Formats: sequence, structure tokens, C-alpha cells
Amino acid sequence: MSDVLELVDVSVVRDGRALVDDVSWSVKEGERWVILGPNGAGKTTLLNIASSYLFPTRGSARILGEQLGGVGTDVFDLRPRIGIAGVAMAEKLPKRQTVLQTVLTAAYGMTATWHENYDAVDEDRARAFLDRLGMTEYLDRRFGTLSEGERKRTLIARAMMTDPELLLLDEPAAGLDLGGREDLVRRLGRLARDPLAPSMIMVTHHVEEIAPGFTHVLMIRQGKVLAAGPMETELTSRNLSLCFGLPLIVEHASDRYTAHGLPLS
Ligand SMILES: Nc1ncnc2c1ncn2[C@@H]1O[C@H](COP(=O)(O)OP(=O)(O)OP(=O)(O)O)[C@@H](O)[C@H]1O
Ligand SMILES: [Mg+2]
Repeated sequence: MSDVLELVDVSVVRDGRALVDDVSWSVKEGERWVILGPNGAGKTTLLNIASSYLFPTRGSARILGEQLGGVGTDVFDLRPRIGIAGVAMAEKLPKRQTVLQTVLTAAYGMTATWHENYDAVDEDRARAFLDRLGMTEYLDRRFGTLSEGERKRTLIARAMMTDPELLLLDEPAAGLDLGGREDLVRRLGRLARDPLAPSMIMVTHHVEEIAPGFTHVLMIRQGKVLAAGPMETELTSRNLSLCFGLPLIVEHASDRYTAHGLPLS
């Protein structure tokens, strides 16, 4: 299996502080990773490296076989091979575009605006991805008027549009109500188990948001890797407690995870 992502001793230093501290991590083709960690742990910073938008201060990063910052690597060739759905992306998108336009423009550059002469093939693809995310009823709605959950689903459809080899999701379920979260978890689970779907890395704060089909977990705290490996062996009460800095109990039932603190004695 080839490497989708290979970080070796990667650090990102800002104002003398390591936001990501000596991280070595490899993601192989077909793996679906979850990154867990508290606020400020460095999760989004790691995704920014994986998306080729941020270069490490130290260490080496290979993405889809291309060395970041290496001779002969052009990030503009690399970026269309990576789908990104996160808050930062949502903020860059024009609020007046319709849902269909928002997804369709992804095929023509990051945040391009609508210019009417799109390919019918692309439009069909955009409709199909939106349908898969349950957004068919919203095709003509303006992106800026969507609820949090509808916006998240649109962003995931948009990230799929370039047929990426690597899909990066930064807190896709944040801000969703219980029904919205469960709906998204089900859709992500379907995607995660699809052998034709891209490799996936999803950042979250909550083990309840891990869809069945995700295979590996990386836990970080203060920029450092606490645990990395298969979900079954690494997503333990001990590791999660260390990661979030309080005693926690992880339970695994019906292919889903839950976590809670210790009962008051
Ligand atoms: N450009 C920057 N300069 C200085 N500090 C930064 C910069 N970007 C991020 N940070 C800091 O780096 C740390 C890690 O940020 P990051 O966004 O990666 O955290 P995170 O794990 O995604 O957190 P959250 O769960 O809150 O989204 C934070 O303390 C943040 O304030
Ligand atoms: Mg973040």
C-alpha cells in the first residue's frame, strides 16, 4: 500500500512555540483516520499541512507521494487532489451563490464564482454528490442562508467534487443537533466503507462523532502525538483520559463509541 501522508519529525513553530511538536505519522491508502484532541491541540494545524497550505518549520511532509517544499513538487498540482471541508473553507465561499453553484465551482478552482458555462457532466456530478449528502431539496438555496448542518453537508459534497484522493474534514459535525449529527455520521460511515471513496482524515472533539468504517485514530495534546494506530487498540479510556486531561471512560457498542467522565462518588 502506498503512503497518502507521511510526516517525519514535523514541527510548526510560531512565536517560539511549537503548535505541532515533532510529529511522525503515516496514513496509508484506504485508511480512514480520526484526529482527536482538545481545543488548541494542533489538529487544524496538522490538517493544514496535510492539505499542503502550511509548510512545516522542521521535518518532512510527503502528501500523495509528493514532497512538500521539494524540488519538482508544485502545490498547485497537488491541491486539486485533496478535498477539504472545514470552517475556514466555508468563510471563503460567496454567500450569494446557490448550493448547486457552490459545489459546482469546486471543479474550477477553490472559490471561483459562477459564470454560467459549466459542463453538463460537472453539473450532473455536483447534483449526484449533493444527493448523496441529502441536499437535493436545497439546490437553488443561497449558501449564506443554510443552517449549520446544511452548510456542512454542502461543504462535504463540494470537497468530493474534484474526485480527491484524500478527503480532509475539520469538525464536520460541530454545531449539529442530535438528529443532524446522526444523519451525518451515517453518511460519513457509508463513505468510509466505500472502497472507491478517497482516504479520509476527520478532526473531531467527540468520540460519538466517529462513524463506523473509520479505522485509525491519532490523538494529540499540546502539539504532541499521544497515540496513533488502529481504533480498536488505541481508542482506550487510558489514552482518551491522557489526551483530554481528565479521567474518562470509553465505551464501544453497536459499532459506535461513547465517552463520559467518572461518576461522582
Ligand atoms: N498563525 C499562528 N500563530 C500563532 N499561533 C497559532 C497560529 N495558528 C494557530 N495557532 C495556535 O496554535 C494552537 C493550535 O491551533 P489549532 O487551530 O491547530 O488547534 P486545534 O486543535 O484545531 O483546536 P480547536 O479544537 O479549538 O479547533 C492554538 O493554541 C492556536 O492558538
Ligand atoms: Mg481546529
